[in-house]
Order: sequence, then C-alpha cells, then structure tokens
Amino acid sequence: MPTPHRNVELKGRDPDPAATLAAALALGATDLGVLRQRDTYFAARSGRLKLREQEPGGAQLIAYERADDARARQSAYHLVDVGDPAALAAALTAALGVTVVVEKARRLLIDEGVRIHLDDVAGLGAWVELEAVAPEGSDLGAEHAKVWRMREALGLSDDRVVAEGYAALLLSRGAATQRLVALARDVRERAYAPYSRFSVGAALRDERGGLHAGANVENVSYPQGQCAETSAIGALVASGARRIEEVAVLADAELVTPCGGCRQRLCELAEPGTPVHLCGPEGVRRTMTLGELLPLGFELPA
Ligand code: THU
Repeated sequence: MPTPHRNVELKGRDPDPAATLAAALALGATDLGVLRQRDTYFAARSGRLKLREQEPGGAQLIAYERADDARARQSAYHLVDVGDPAALAAALTAALGVTVVVEKARRLLIDEGVRIHLDDVAGLGAWVELEAVAPEGSDLGAEHAKVWRMREALGLSDDRVVAEGYAALLLSRGAATQRLVALARDVRERAYAPYSRFSVGAALRDERGGLHAGANVENVSYPQGQCAETSAIGALVASGARRIEEVAVLADAELVTPCGGCRQRLCELAEPGTPVHLCGPEGVRRTMTLGELLPLGFELPA
C-alpha cells in the first residue's frame, strides 16, 4: 500500500478576505485563481472519507485521519483520482450514507511551498487556511516553521484560529439550527392571534450563543398587533444581548417570510449575511440571508 501523504495545516476565520489577499500578494505569493469545490462526506467506519469534485480540475476520493487541534496539526491522507464521480457518489451514498456536503470557492495561492487557501464556504463565510505538504521522510519541522511564518505575515491571530474542519463546523451549525427551529415551533404554540388565526413563532441566536423566542401578539385595534420577530427581538435585548446571528421564523404556511417592518428591525442588530430560516411545522423550508430579504435597508447617512 502506498504511504499516505502528510501535511501541516492551520485555519482561521477571515474577517477581511481582501486584506488577506493583498498581504499574501505583497509577500510574493503566486495566485493560481479560484477553484470551486464540492466535498461530499460519507459515514466512514474510521477516519474521514470525502469525494472532492473540483472545477476546474477533476474529482478525487480522499481518506484521511486528523485530530481536531487548534495548533498547526498534521494530517495523513490517501488520494485516489475518480473518473466517474456521480457513479461513485451514488455507490458510497447507498453503502455508507452522506453526513454533510461542504461547498466552497477557494482562491489558491502558493508561497515557498505553503498553499494559502482563501475560502468562501457556503453557510460558514470566509476563512484562510495554510497548508504545507511534507516531502517523504520530513520530520515536519520545516513545514511547521513555514506555516508559522506565513501565519504571522497574514495576521492570523490566535483568537481566529479554529480547530474543527468545515464539515464538523457545518454539522454543529446544523444541530444549533435545529434547536433554534424547535424553539420557534414551541413558542408559536403560545401565539395570541385570535383575529388572523395565523400563529407565528420566531427564534433568534445572539452573539453569546443565547436563544430567544417570541410569538405574534394581536390586538383588537388591528394595527397595534405585534409580529413574532418583534417579540423575539424584545426578548433578546431584554436579556442584555445586542446582536442577532441567526433567525428562524415558523408558521403553517407554504413559505412564511418576515414582513417589511420586521426585516428592517432585524437589520438593526444583524448583518446582511445573517441567515434567516423560513420554516414550516416540519422544519426549514428555505434559508436566505437578511441582505437578500432586505437589500438597501435604511441607514442614516454617515
Ligand atoms: N406575522 C408575524 O408574526 N410574522 C411574520 O413574519 C408575518 C406576519 C403575524 C402578524 C399577524 O399577527 C399575523 O401574522 C397575520 O398577519
């Protein structure tokens, strides 16, 4: 059996991808352009198994072991070129099942043998990843040193470094979203909607991970009624939180969307990229960003 490849890698959130790109180019890194990658993870019995489909480029099956460690870590992996990715995906899905799919646009740069990945990951935002591939027999000392130097040059500080892979991050994000949706479902049961008989539940995740819920509260003087989102925003602010990181709105409708006024209220404490899950009783039907729901929301001139 061929010996597995080894590399040293490190990754972190990237609040300013344009600045990171400029810093990498200033170092003299070679820009190899943008790759579109779709990684399908299968439920492997040991380690991780993913099918990578890449544009431009082909498809590969990658089996690897990796400890989630925030410090630069090593990973050992096997790579197999795949001629018919659709057929392989169907076979592996039938035999093992899919755990998660990670889609990203990756800008690839190389500097002194270190690969710099500027990744825009669906559902996770912008990341920078450094990867030094080790030649056979290396004690990995040189690779660790290179990754360390590059990390300093790109300003990838400790607080931005994240140990988990994208797949694990998406899986835990998925579990957190399920909790948010469950909360919206639960609070909807307590809506006060005697006039419209249309009950709505909303749930928000704040900047500290706290969850807040609200339902619509109607009034006999109809315009005085309050939407579920507005009730939930009040609960979030009353708790001491100040930011909205994720939103779920749930009703028994084909697709419930926040009204215009609530979109503006959400914008006050959220970002254009904040995900808003539009849910039916069974769960998420569609996820949009707040920026998609309210482009050009009102802001005071600077
Ligand atoms: N409603 C909400 O609570 N949130 C929405 O996203 C849309 C509408 C409420 C307001 C009113 O009590 C009822 O739904 C019917 O308009």
